[in-house]
Amino acid sequence: MKFEKHIFICTNQRKEGERKSCGEACGLELVKAFKKSMNEKGLLGRMRAQRSGCIDACDFGPSMVVYPEGVFYGGVQPGDVEQIINEHLIENKPVQRLIIDFSKQLPASD
Ligand code: FES
Repeated sequence: MKFEKHIFICTNQRKEGERKSCGEACGLELVKAFKKSMNEKGLLGRMRAQRSGCIDACDFGPSMVVYPEGVFYGGVQPGDVEQIINEHLIENKPVQRLIIDFSKQLPASD
């Protein structure tokens, strides 16, 4: 495996009037915040954060997923970035309060 942790942050942006999307919220801001902090902590190279298209967790956005665990986080705000990096990426302890409960997902409308 190339990266110890590989995170995909949804920055998908739908047109006005369509279903809500993470890019309207703070998707790009999150990507920048993850990259900046991961760089400062010396994690880049062995870990990677990047933007992605829709990860099918739109109702819970802003959404992201961390591999190799495949842990999906929802409602992620810039203020959550440090906790995710310190606890999940570094200590391998996923942040329970942000993990998406897909049993509560609404049926897709598009
Ligand atoms: S638009 Fe972000 S998960 Fe679908």
